[in-house]
Amino acid sequence: MGKKIFSGVQPTGNLHLGNYLGAIKNFVKLSKDKNNECIFCVVDLHAITVSQDPKELRDNIRETVATFIASGIDPEKNIIFSQSKVSAHSEAAWILSCIARMGWLNRMTQFKEKAGKDKEKASIGLYSYPVLMAADILLYDTSHVPVGDDQKQHLELSRDIAQKFNNDFNVDDFFKVPEPLIQKEFSRIMSLKDGLKKMSKSEISDQSRVNLTDDKDQIINKIKKAKTDALPMPSSGEELSKRPEVKNLIGIYSSLTDLNFDEVIKEFSGKNFSDFKESLSQVLVDKITPISVEIKKLLQDSNYLDKILLDGSEKADKIASQKMKKIHEIIGF
Ligand code: TYM
Repeated sequence: MGKKIFSGVQPTGNLHLGNYLGAIKNFVKLSKDKNNECIFCVVDLHAITVSQDPKELRDNIRETVATFIASGIDPEKNIIFSQSKVSAHSEAAWILSCIARMGWLNRMTQFKEKAGKDKEKASIGLYSYPVLMAADILLYDTSHVPVGDDQKQHLELSRDIAQKFNNDFNVDDFFKVPEPLIQKEFSRIMSLKDGLKKMSKSEISDQSRVNLTDDKDQIINKIKKAKTDALPMPSSGEELSKRPEVKNLIGIYSSLTDLNFDEVIKEFSGKNFSDFKESLSQVLVDKITPISVEIKKLLQDSNYLDKILLDGSEKADKIASQKMKKIHEIIGF
């Protein structure tokens, strides 16, 4: 039987290799299986949990759609829409926030990281953000959610919320309990500057990531400058636990070529780091520059991108508003 797929990406600019290898690459693969029904959401309501410039936000929403399409998601066969245009997301988020417990949210590590030292000044939205994410997923009877490793905890929360709602109202299986789809071997792509830090849009140094809009020269330059260590290329997987930067680069290569870690290690064992970096740059350029060229092309036609969002939101709204109606009945509204 086919899967019901839902996933989201924040339109906060600088979509990067981590987003691609951790999530979007898998979206593309799942969307190509005719048995699956896929919905990909530009989560603009999530983006405003931190302050956004309205003009940039509008551009970034279009850029995220362009990235989906440029990466290989067919907008005719899959639903692509922005979250703010389907009001059921906000409504369900409120209702589910009355189901979720403070204790559950207090455990969310991403809030702790994002809020930093001054939690008192973080928005309430940043705190309750995983509840909105649960609303996104549960409104569509999603069976599977492809995400990077950093979203695992949020997905577990979605499962807890679904189960508590079903129990509280005695409605077995009303909300489908979603399964995460997280890459097995390499699900967290790290910064090119620090192998212990996640590759991230919000990192100030652009050298820390490969953006999906980077051109050939930028990619080559970033890989050349990517941090490594003084040792030669590893000859076994065991060495990697103490060499986070090297592990990350090998992981990127392995993910792009669909070879496993051991195969990559075997291919480069005993070789110079510069040889490996050259090969890595080559596979990155081959994979990323066509996407980057296509994103730039698509961005020239904002009417086309807006039309996709409009069509997508109509389709999504149909599904979500029906579910919302049933939620009202169950609750007693
Ligand atoms: P966001 O916008 O931060 O990231 C989008 C996707 O990219 C993955 N990702 C990574 N994967 C591996 N390594 C990295 N360095 C890396 N950085 C980002 C993320 O895991 C994610 O899959 N809350 C979500 C968006 C969201 C969502 C949803 C996802 C909202 N509602 C419902 C799934 C289902 C987020 O902020 O992703």
